[in-house]
Amino acid sequence: MSTAFSSIPISENVHWVGAIDWELADFHGYTTPRGSTYNAFLILDEKPTLIDTVKAKYRDEMLSRIASVIDPSKIEYVISNHSEMDHTGALPDLMRTIKPAKIYASSKGVQAIRRHFPSSEIEVTQVNEGDTLALGRMTLTFLMSSMVHWPDSMFSYLNGDGILFSNDAFGMHLASTERFVDELDPWIVRSEAATYYANILWPTSKIVANTLKKVHEFGKPIHQIAPDHGPNWRINDDIHLVMDWYHDWSEGRFDPQKAVLVFDTMWGSTALIARAIAEGLHQGGMKVRMLPLTKTERSQIATELLDAGLFLVGSPTLNGGLYPTIADALTYVKGLRPRKPSILGGAFGSYGWSPALQKQIGEMLTEMGIDLPNGVFNVQYVPGEDDLRSAQEYGQALAEHSLPTSSDS
Ligand code: FEO
Repeated sequence: MSTAFSSIPISENVHWVGAIDWELADFHGYTTPRGSTYNAFLILDEKPTLIDTVKAKYRDEMLSRIASVIDPSKIEYVISNHSEMDHTGALPDLMRTIKPAKIYASSKGVQAIRRHFPSSEIEVTQVNEGDTLALGRMTLTFLMSSMVHWPDSMFSYLNGDGILFSNDAFGMHLASTERFVDELDPWIVRSEAATYYANILWPTSKIVANTLKKVHEFGKPIHQIAPDHGPNWRINDDIHLVMDWYHDWSEGRFDPQKAVLVFDTMWGSTALIARAIAEGLHQGGMKVRMLPLTKTERSQIATELLDAGLFLVGSPTLNGGLYPTIADALTYVKGLRPRKPSILGGAFGSYGWSPALQKQIGEMLTEMGIDLPNGVFNVQYVPGEDDLRSAQEYGQALAEHSLPTSSDS
């Protein structure tokens, strides 16, 4: 049937029927300059099956893509791998049109869909770990992936075509007409995959690591990973690559040489101290990422921290407390729980009346599991030449603590 929007075949028996969100600029606090996609997949078998839906505003576009392949009312089953509204927003309206025989979700998914759409008459059937659903020639197997990203999250695996529908895992916020990783710039893919992991999955890294183990133990051939955001992974090397990235990120592997220095400034004093500390870090052998909050999004901080070994935060004192941009950044980073083995940190800034603030930042970093081997560094009012030399030495001393010595290797 001729429709405005078309499906895109992704394998012998599966079509992509999602939506491309070119306009998305923010995903619950995470800046998304490259937009996103909400992926949904249509499996063509004796029992045509839809995996996930899209945000409510893209309902008609999705329906149009489905109608380009089959009459939507022929869909027998709908699988909801995750109830967050970017995947279920269109569900109630679509169900009225499609009228599937069954909708399946995890036990938490059944509850969440009920809570999200209390006035709809959607009946959802619970599936559990390892349950299978016969579609005709092919079978779906369900793997629970609770907390990757919400308690209800699950993966679905299609035998035959060997596709792992991984929902939020292995995804990225990247709008593109291309549907496969191997059609895109590898640098952009790496960068957006890391940004997505840092801002969405980092808080549940232990669970991500266990889920990866479960997928390996599942032992079925994976010819394609089809996440719900961004492109699919279909080349064997790409599948191994993203699995390796997830392994490293979920295990908290980092580069001890990489320092992230976040700061803001009121009259320029904290910026001066930041520059001197960065000088000392660099002279001590570190690679420094300077992130002034005048031009840094909080999601960029998370991405840079994902593989960093040293985190420094500099704030001027305002009304006896944190500078607002620093408060925002620290609240966000703390929520991501970037607890890793051996990560080090520092806190610094300028004050007028009381030096308590930098100590307070140091305590916040300690609460995040970040050790401050050189304590905090602060200067009253404007740093002079001696203060800047001390700041440079503070940076150099932190570099010495961060970098492995020959006796460590
Ligand atoms: Fe893509 Fe957790 O929603």
